[in-house]
Amino acid sequence: MHLLIFLSLFYLLDGYENVEILSSYPELNVTIPLLFNDNINISILSSIAPSSGNISVYQIVNQNTLILRQIYPASSYCLVYNKTLSCRTLSSTFNRINSNYTIVVDDNFVTSLFNEPLREIKKGVWNVMTSKYSTEALLRLNSDGSSYFSSYNQSQLLDDLLQQIKQSIPLINDHLKIIHNVQSDPSDFSKLLVEFLINKATNPLNEPSINDIVKDLNIIIKNKYISTLADKQFMIFLDDQYGFQIKLINELCHNVKFLDWFTNNVKSVLIFTIIASTDVTCLNILSSNFAGFNFLSALISKKAEMSIIYGAMIDLLIEDIPQLIIQACF
Ligand SMILES: *[C@@H]1O[C@H](CO)[C@@H](O)[C@H](O)[C@H]1NC(C)=O
Ligand SMILES: *[C@@H]1O[C@H](CO)[C@@H](O)[C@H](O)[C@H]1NC(C)=O
Ligand SMILES: *[C@@H]1O[C@H](CO)[C@@H](O)[C@H](O)[C@H]1NC(C)=O
Ligand SMILES: *[C@@H]1O[C@H](CO)[C@@H](O)[C@H](O)[C@H]1NC(C)=O
Ligand SMILES: *[C@@H]1O[C@H](CO)[C@@H](O)[C@H](O)[C@H]1NC(C)=O
Ligand SMILES: *[C@@H]1O[C@H](CO)[C@@H](O)[C@H](O)[C@H]1NC(C)=O
Repeated sequence: MHLLIFLSLFYLLDGYENVEILSSYPELNVTIPLLFNDNINISILSSIAPSSGNISVYQIVNQNTLILRQIYPASSYCLVYNKTLSCRTLSSTFNRINSNYTIVVDDNFVTSLFNEPLREIKKGVWNVMTSKYSTEALLRLNSDGSSYFSSYNQSQLLDDLLQQIKQSIPLINDHLKIIHNVQSDPSDFSKLLVEFLINKATNPLNEPSINDIVKDLNIIIKNKYISTLADKQFMIFLDDQYGFQIKLINELCHNVKFLDWFTNNVKSVLIFTIIASTDVTCLNILSSNFAGFNFLSALISKKAEMSIIYGAMIDLLIEDIPQLIIQACF
């Protein structure tokens, strides 16, 4: 009897406020990398089957306001492996730097093998936070590399490329990622740019900082024939003129000091040009910060018509842009 009480107490105190949940990935209250898109896992005490209850992710803004980021019934986008429910994450879900999110699991998200629905994980219980510091940087494939990547399975090649880049730093953690975008270099369409996301080290004493990684990779790539890349298979595909470069627009978004300097020293018309010529991902991140402010969304959907609206809007907006970026990013 005492043991039972003890056990129930133990489970009641369990962080998920749900006795049947053993653990989760990501865990409660942890910091995850920006654009985290590993599967979300929930490990359950007993055997289960996915059911119709929704699993959703919300961004928490100002304590009370929740913004939906993704939602689906467990039966559509989750699979069960050995008592673990493993669910898909869109790479657009955790797309705000230094932000809080809550993962909400509705009643009947899974059923036991006796067909009984399991209970929910309430709003605000399973919270995670995106990391505060991250930077996007680019490497460029040379002509050979660009045509090779265009004609083979890119996701496989990018996985392999990332592994070799990490080996050459060397980096064993998850702080460096390749993000979805591989696109032609606007200044030379025959060459592809591959975009990396670098997250701040969680353990600064033992892991290289963002700056270290960018600096090292730049040297390593520029000296690819004699550097650690010399014996790596993908070396021949990397552009050693280009090296490894930080994306300016992302520094504007994420780096307060740089933005300060930039807005004080550079004409706002230049900022506008940078925004207009940047990729849709960053515009999306910028515009998702404005509830009810449509200018940037209009920019996104009308990007093809940019050259037409550019002239009309530029007078109106030049003065507001720096303010806009500041509001957008901080
Ligand atoms: C998570 O954070 C909440 C609120 O800050 C706290 O009450 C709870 O104990 C934390 N849970 C864990 C497992 O750290
Ligand atoms: C799941 O969410 C969708 C979209 O909000 C909603 O239409 C549907 O009724 C929800 N399903 C359940 C079982 O609550
Ligand atoms: C999540 O579950 C899947 C399927 O069991 C597994 O392959 C993956 O490694 C799990 N992720 C983590 C971080 O445990
Ligand atoms: C399932 O979990 C059990 C107990 O943890 C383990 O012994 C078994 O190897 C696992 N099976 C698979 C397929 O992972
Ligand atoms: C995220 O949540 C933590 C803990 O509740 C809070 O201290 C922090 O201010 C929140 N951050 C944001 C950006 O809302
Ligand atoms: C490309 O490679 C990925 C990763 O190995 C794989 O999941 C995908 O099915 C492959 N796609 C094609 C079209 O072969």
